[in-house]
Amino acid sequence: MTMQTENTKPLMGDEVAEPTNIVIFGATGDLSKRKLLPALIRMLNSGLVNSESRILGVVNNRTREVWLQLLFDGLHTFAHEITQDLEKWNAFCEKLIMVPGDLADDETYNRVADALEVLGGKKNAMFYCAIPPEWYGKVAAGLGKAGLISEDEGYRRIVIEKPFGMDLETSRKLNTELQAEFNENQIYRIDHYLGKESVQNLLVYRFANGIMEPLWNRNYIDHIQIIVSETLGIEYRAKYYEKAGALRDMIQSHIMQVMTLVAMEPPVEFTADAVRDEKMKVLRAIRPFKAEEIDSLTVAAQYAKGVIDNEEISSYVSEEGVSPDSITETFAAVRFHIDNWRWQGVPFILCSGKRLPKRVSEVMIRFRKPPFNLFNNHASIPNANALVFRLQPDSGIVLRINAKKPGPTTDNEVMVMRAPYADKDDVADAYEVLMHDVLVGDSTLFSRSDEVNESWSILEPILNAWEKRVSIDRYRAGTWSIPEMDNLTKDCVHGWHVPT
Ligand code: BG6
Repeated sequence: MTMQTENTKPLMGDEVAEPTNIVIFGATGDLSKRKLLPALIRMLNSGLVNSESRILGVVNNRTREVWLQLLFDGLHTFAHEITQDLEKWNAFCEKLIMVPGDLADDETYNRVADALEVLGGKKNAMFYCAIPPEWYGKVAAGLGKAGLISEDEGYRRIVIEKPFGMDLETSRKLNTELQAEFNENQIYRIDHYLGKESVQNLLVYRFANGIMEPLWNRNYIDHIQIIVSETLGIEYRAKYYEKAGALRDMIQSHIMQVMTLVAMEPPVEFTADAVRDEKMKVLRAIRPFKAEEIDSLTVAAQYAKGVIDNEEISSYVSEEGVSPDSITETFAAVRFHIDNWRWQGVPFILCSGKRLPKRVSEVMIRFRKPPFNLFNNHASIPNANALVFRLQPDSGIVLRINAKKPGPTTDNEVMVMRAPYADKDDVADAYEVLMHDVLVGDSTLFSRSDEVNESWSILEPILNAWEKRVSIDRYRAGTWSIPEMDNLTKDCVHGWHVPT
């Protein structure tokens, strides 16, 4: 059964931002070519970025010609609409300004200041750190020394990419370094999951519909599972991934954020701090992990060789750059308990893995079983209902509800009601949503320092325990064969829910 949405307009406002100079640190890197510049190009074309804005790329050891050629080659893959039309490409190049320099050199930041001065006009600036995290503090300090943070003549905002620290200590240190220069309201910590419309839509589904709230609690919900499964591997990022693993890479940085949106109380208003205050309360209510419980509340596993979509996949340990005896987890699951009135006794099971059979992200709300089986003379015992929010691909809602089998019987069967959210083309790209929010000064979809520190603090006992492990379970790439997941969910109605 399929239902149509009446209004599929993306959530992103159509407010055109004031002219802003966008300074990219790491302007030759992968992120710039894959995500940032394609998003900025689309935003310039649609008018969401003011046409008077300029993009300044901080580039080391390259001439402007070489930089532009690098961009052209990269954008040919990720935004070929612009490289195919030389007139458009040349018009875009006119908006690009190269600032030569090394991030370690204070002079580089003075050159950024000079370049902004020469541009004149309004002095709004967004500084985008598309660079490895060890440089964030240095860039903030450099901008501070060059006098680029004061907002006397226009706003100044800094955008930070994940990973935001590797544990509580590094996260606190990073926050201290950034806050030594910037006010918290000038700092935008990007979590591209929060930029996904389907994730923002969780708030609308919850708080714009009267039918959800009465059911949204321990009285009706048995447990909640949030899964992000990927078919991809680590994509040449062994250096980072070997140290990070799935717990840091996905659970801390993205899925815990999604959990807070699912679990939070209605905010008093839809403003950045009101929403983030409620998310923060959820994190504070998470039951601390005791060392002796970690084995029973978490799962770590690593993919072995296998087959996905008829393609042979080699094992994680034979990926380029991965140590042959690596025990880094490529699959992680954690069972959280939220100790508050709404969620007491309702487990939240978060999991994510690479090289699984499907690319799919879902939030599944599993309701309690019907209290009594009226139809127990018959073979079919009613399933507990499930409401699934499909985040990607094909975002939308799926409700699994029991219905009578047609014909002369009272047997029942599961009927699946699907409500697709929007056509693919209507959905705004996460980077466009988030960059637009930075430009208009809306930090609702960005993580605040206390949220980030708190999430690291919650995971600290798990990180410590996992640090000491000497081996890891393996799963065959392209399968869901992670038996530990059955243990983790053994008291949950219908157990581990594998997306279909
Ligand atoms: C990134 C992780 O943050 O998110 C990657 O570092 C992961 O490992 C990616 O593949 C998943 O994002 P998406 O949007 O494809 O679900």
